Amino acid sequence: MSPPKTTHRGTEAPRPVPNEFAEPLARAGDRLGVFSHQQFLWYTTVPSTNDLAGALAERGAREGCAVIAEAQSAGRGRHGRAWSSPPGAGLYISTILRPPTHALSLLTIAAGVAVAEAVQSATGLDPRLKWPNDVYIGEGKLAGVLAEAGSMDDGEDDSSHERGGADPERSGADLHGPRLKYVVLGIGINIMPAAHPPDVAAKATSIEGELGRSIDRGLLLTECLVSLSARYEELRQKRADGVLTAWRARSAATLGRKVEWDAGGARLGVAEGIDDTGALLVRTDQGVERIISGEVRWI
Ligand code: BTN
Repeated sequence: MSPPKTTHRGTEAPRPVPNEFAEPLARAGDRLGVFSHQQFLWYTTVPSTNDLAGALAERGAREGCAVIAEAQSAGRGRHGRAWSSPPGAGLYISTILRPPTHALSLLTIAAGVAVAEAVQSATGLDPRLKWPNDVYIGEGKLAGVLAEAGSMDDGEDDSSHERGGADPERSGADLHGPRLKYVVLGIGINIMPAAHPPDVAAKATSIEGELGRSIDRGLLLTECLVSLSARYEELRQKRADGVLTAWRARSAATLGRKVEWDAGGARLGVAEGIDDTGALLVRTDQGVERIISGEVRWI
């Protein structure tokens, strides 16, 4: 198990949550659920909110803490990619959760649903989902989720958070294991068109770019946390049906399409849906395959 990529040492001190965000968060009150204790660490710039949240989780930060930054100098996306995070252009947030084992397989699916729902409630846009949790408007990627888990080392007991480390990225249905002690859910949402690298700009869209007007960023952050806490609570209470139904409703346009993925060589099939564990079901010439992790490309 590898240690977290960075620690909090050397990072600027957190500052108070700006009023633009503090006011809608305060109005949300108990709707924030697991986040209602409002332990939010706010930064101007950090390398990656996920790295900072992982380091804090290792040191025992409680469930529901969140690290939020106005910019990231080394934002990370899924599959080892960078996540372009210019100042003020997006929402960059990492939440610390300590889920029960039964909630793990659908956690990243639930996070994608929560982000799509939050964007809809805060802006009126109606995002779609691509497995497992990419949030799209049309062909443009609006938001993404990076889930990273920390597990206990052999010999470590539940009360110790001094050892262990952040496991590599896991996605879809393969966040599992009784020895998992926390999950950092990192969420990046493109709010305004920005000077992204050309490869990102070609595929990305943003809320304000879609709407042609500015939005209430505080409301967006608040709705994200409200929606994430509600969907998380459903998983905790073993009520996964709502998450699955919502994911399936938002992903209909991406199903029935050809996909390609790597499994010791490129494989081809047609995406059919997800099963109740969140695994992508793909029809191939050999039958239906379950994909639980890795990159799936829509072709
Ligand atoms: C993806 O590739 O779709 C996932 C992108 C996740 C980006 C967010 S921004 C906040 C958090 N910190 C990071 O370094 N990454 C995640």
